[in-house]
Amino acid sequence: MPVSFSLRHPKPAAPATIRRWRRRAAWLARALAVAERDVSIVFTNDAEIAALNQNYRLREGATNVLSFAALDGEVFPGQPPGDLGEIIISVDTAAREARQLGQSLDARVFWLLAHGFLHLLGWDHENSQAEAEAMRAKELELIEQFSKNGRYFMPKLAINVDHIATIRQARGGHEPDPVTAAAICELAGAKGIVIHLREDRRHIQERDLRLLRQTVKTKLNLEMGAAKEIIAIALEVGPDMVTLVPEKRRELTTEGGLDVVAGKMKLAAVVARLQDEGIPVSLFIDPEEAQIEAAREIGATFVELHTGKYADNKGEERLHHLAQIEAAAALASRLGLIVNAGHGLDYGNTAPVAAIAEIDELSIGHAIISRAAFVGLDKAVREMLAIVETAG
Ligand code: PXP
Repeated sequence: MPVSFSLRHPKPAAPATIRRWRRRAAWLARALAVAERDVSIVFTNDAEIAALNQNYRLREGATNVLSFAALDGEVFPGQPPGDLGEIIISVDTAAREARQLGQSLDARVFWLLAHGFLHLLGWDHENSQAEAEAMRAKELELIEQFSKNGRYFMPKLAINVDHIATIRQARGGHEPDPVTAAAICELAGAKGIVIHLREDRRHIQERDLRLLRQTVKTKLNLEMGAAKEIIAIALEVGPDMVTLVPEKRRELTTEGGLDVVAGKMKLAAVVARLQDEGIPVSLFIDPEEAQIEAAREIGATFVELHTGKYADNKGEERLHHLAQIEAAAALASRLGLIVNAGHGLDYGNTAPVAAIAEIDELSIGHAIISRAAFVGLDKAVREMLAIVETAG
């Protein structure tokens, strides 16, 4: 979603706070049907907003929010087409007003963002009493809508049940059954079930895929390599979607993203073959611009951004990978791809990824199944859901 954020306040807010504000801005852009436009949002302090207020509006003193609409149809040098304009919010004034009104700073910032967006769309409370009332009513409508269904935009949680099958295969018997596990995950609130049918059948078997096709009530996502045999099975069974992944026989788990740039021709044919039969395709890729552009060029419906490097690193390095995922999600969404993410996500590292506004779904397996061994699958799923649903 093309909302760009910058923070020019001398006391930067915590990253989690910024993520919440970014998510609210993304929500507003979607609710106001301008998610495709570019909006720049700047959080600053009273001194800077007072200077801008003086320069551009000839008014003295700080104010809470200023909006500068890009002129319709005109494109300024350095300004991308589709630019809606800029919203500048003083965190100092917002905090002061929040205290006076007995509101949280988040609630105040949401109102200021809504106010700013409406100005960019041509609403103006200074024109007349009637317009002021109409604008106020629209703001209240947005606040009510957000409090009711703001969570609509939370990412969905899809659960990979491969490792239930790994335990079963350890003895080659019937238990535990990934089909039963999938039902428990769905009852606990998962919005999708993911399985990886590997060529070596080390965990999921064809029998699991066929039964899950009949029993999954939410969405069955079949992860697979682009091998002929597996493509034929996918076409015959018809999962709700396919995620293409690179598959190496000796790897412990999927190691990196697909190289869509290098394998464009072959992957384009596989994507077309599956999508022509009504099976939307996701490509599991590293969060890199070239891979995203290639995924778009070959007509994929989704990309799943590989979160492995983010998950495997700590400190600054982890933040660097998070920033890459954020930028990749924004680009993919701008190009019209639906954005999923996954790999290596656990109870400690999922929240910052779940808070990325453009991510539609998270695919998590190992951490949930491992925790289930100690606390039970229902509880393990619900605990992860609580993290995902409160991350915004
Ligand atoms: N997404 C993809 C494409 C994967 O290959 C896997 C691992 O099977 C996952 C997500 C889930 O990863 P994890 O088991 O580490 O949560």
